[in-house]
Amino acid sequence: MKLKIQKTETLKPRPKDSELSFGTLFTDHMFNMDYHPDKGWHNPRIDPYHAIEMDPSTMVLHYGQAIFEGLKAYRTESGDIQLFRPRENFKRFNQSARVMCIPEIDEDLALDALKQLLIIEKEWVPHSLGTSLYIRPTIIAMDPFLGVRASHTYRFFIILSPVGAYYSEGFNPVKIWVTKDHVRAVRGGVGYVKTAGNYAASLFAGELASKNGYTQVLWLDGVDLKYVEEVGSMNIFFLIDDELITPNLQGSILPGITRDSIINLAKVWNMKVSERRISIDEVFEAHSAGKLQEIFGTGTAAVVSPVGVIKYEDKIIHIGTGEVGPVANKFFAALTDIQYGMKDAPEGWIETIAPSL
Ligand code: COI
Repeated sequence: MKLKIQKTETLKPRPKDSELSFGTLFTDHMFNMDYHPDKGWHNPRIDPYHAIEMDPSTMVLHYGQAIFEGLKAYRTESGDIQLFRPRENFKRFNQSARVMCIPEIDEDLALDALKQLLIIEKEWVPHSLGTSLYIRPTIIAMDPFLGVRASHTYRFFIILSPVGAYYSEGFNPVKIWVTKDHVRAVRGGVGYVKTAGNYAASLFAGELASKNGYTQVLWLDGVDLKYVEEVGSMNIFFLIDDELITPNLQGSILPGITRDSIINLAKVWNMKVSERRISIDEVFEAHSAGKLQEIFGTGTAAVVSPVGVIKYEDKIIHIGTGEVGPVANKFFAALTDIQYGMKDAPEGWIETIAPSL
């Protein structure tokens, strides 16, 4: 399918790397493609970045039939631009599409379109370590209709945003709040899918956490209210007595690509790694026994984010010394060395786009 390209005549001012936060600025162009049952996915195009005009009855606005992905383009020391495991994102995008009754996309076409967009927007990829160009592929339901059913028409778009750290704490430990009063997802639901509603469902408890001085909510399972699930914007890892533990993917947790990469690295380093159920009581008991060494979250936006404090009911624990732990530090360094092209990556993890193309 041929990609139509229309370039803008007015380029936006580009920010300095030091001014970047997360998700506030967008580049000059975007990718768009439409779905119609008679035509399938059609009209792939790169357009100037623009607002999407929609009827107030458009289905995505009412029933949230929307899926998205998050990945990043990194600038290497030699000036190249590279993507980290992008095929995994488009694979997961299609898995989300299946669950949300959205027609699947051609993953090769999507990756190719993204690379062409990145070549046009190459100057927007920041240069400093810790900065990157965040990529947000999204599909939304476009039928103007108020009955509850899957939409017949869709828009797929990709927007790009130059970013710095996701949390205002940067790489410093964040404080998380465990709640038993709210749940994010249950098995049999859509918690393992990157769909808009999962994030909307997390907002109320997130606001409560924030009012109490906590950065994020650590969710427990929706049945026993006992087992740790994820943080919503990241997966979670515990280092207890030299065992690296992360909750297993049992249907309500997002299968994070950074999560998978950390598990991979830990295995290469011969660490004891377990994907298993871990109860919040086990975490607090390990702390009392002096065995809880570190906690950190992982995600594309969050990278590797150490956790310094956890509050659960009336108990608050401080993890380690209040500084970033050595294991979180080692994973952060290894991952970012690969992402910024400073170390060799495992086979298939990096796709390079040379800006001179
Ligand atoms: C990502 O890490 O890319 C995500 O999609 C999480 C998002 C809520 C910022």
